[in-house]
Amino acid sequence: MNIPQLTDFSEASLDAAFAEVRALAETAITAASFDKEQFRLEWLGRKQGYLGQISDTWLKAAPVEAKKLIGQRFNALKQTIEEKLAAETLLDSGIEISGLDITLPGTAQRLGVEHPLVKTMAEIVSVFQRMGYSVGLGPEVETDFYNFEALNFPPNHPARDTQDTLVVDAQDGKPLRDRLLMRTHTSPVQIRSMLEQAPPLRLVIPGKVHRNDAADATHSPVFHQVEGLCVDTNITFSDLKGTLDHAMKAFFGSAVKTRFFPSFFPFTEPSADVQISCIFCGGKGCRKCKHSGWIELLGCGMVDPAVFASVNQRRIELGREPVYDTARISGFAFGMGVDRIAMMKYGISDIGLLYSGDMRFLEQFA
Ligand code: DAH
Repeated sequence: MNIPQLTDFSEASLDAAFAEVRALAETAITAASFDKEQFRLEWLGRKQGYLGQISDTWLKAAPVEAKKLIGQRFNALKQTIEEKLAAETLLDSGIEISGLDITLPGTAQRLGVEHPLVKTMAEIVSVFQRMGYSVGLGPEVETDFYNFEALNFPPNHPARDTQDTLVVDAQDGKPLRDRLLMRTHTSPVQIRSMLEQAPPLRLVIPGKVHRNDAADATHSPVFHQVEGLCVDTNITFSDLKGTLDHAMKAFFGSAVKTRFFPSFFPFTEPSADVQISCIFCGGKGCRKCKHSGWIELLGCGMVDPAVFASVNQRRIELGREPVYDTARISGFAFGMGVDRIAMMKYGISDIGLLYSGDMRFLEQFA
């Protein structure tokens, strides 16, 4: 292509010449044979590009008075061409400049999935929600009072040693009950809930807990529990047994059996450990259940009157009615480890995988 010849340097002639070049560029860009790279080379190429030729021949030949007029028109032309080219590029990538092209496929969003722990926790919670339980939550940074004292773990009581506690630094100046620690279980939310609400109460409390345990295949210093609390008139140990037996069947399948062994927790009396028939061998005995046919799954018991007493006392301190009257009400509580249940359910042999953030592991649950 040859660039138009300039006859004179009047504004009218310049306008006509630039309009001619602009029309040529537009024809090239909208042509069916348009090729972006080729156009770039032909028009904007450093050495042989038309624009370069124009600036060379027109500008150089121009008298001083006309140089500015040519320069302005040249810059405007170059900008127009570059904008048209950019618009073509965007069209190529599926974006329309003016308005929305609803015929284009949408931009796909990658959907996330629930982490196996969150999923397991939600499934356990929903089993209890279907029995009329509400969901309660509490803080992970807790005071000694809620984590221990109100749950009938007196200061220096050996039961505290079963829960290796991570304590918050620089708390020595405070009275023991106000010192901060990372909650070692979800049980303190029992107390917090009873301070806020009067009976009857049916609550499940999912959450993260912390212990000063060395990490290995079955231990993690951070893990998860689901706690339960039911307080009402005429609540008995049979209600506890029936509720947990139903929950285990709802979660693991109706063939699962439960059995209750005497145990000890400071905040329940009597206390029990609950075992379920082995979900791998159905109770015949296998490696998973150490050939016993049973798997220990959770702790539970009837709420100890000492717990109601500390709730009442604290309610009085807070100016609330001491409504947890053991002559009228009773209750049961339970707590289970979510990680172990998730590991059993999904056949995960190392708890660390749940906290590794390794996409190759997590994507298997997608
Ligand atoms: N908080 C106990 C633990 O972490 C588990 C537990 C046992 C919770 C018995 C309860 C219960 O509510 O009644 O070891």
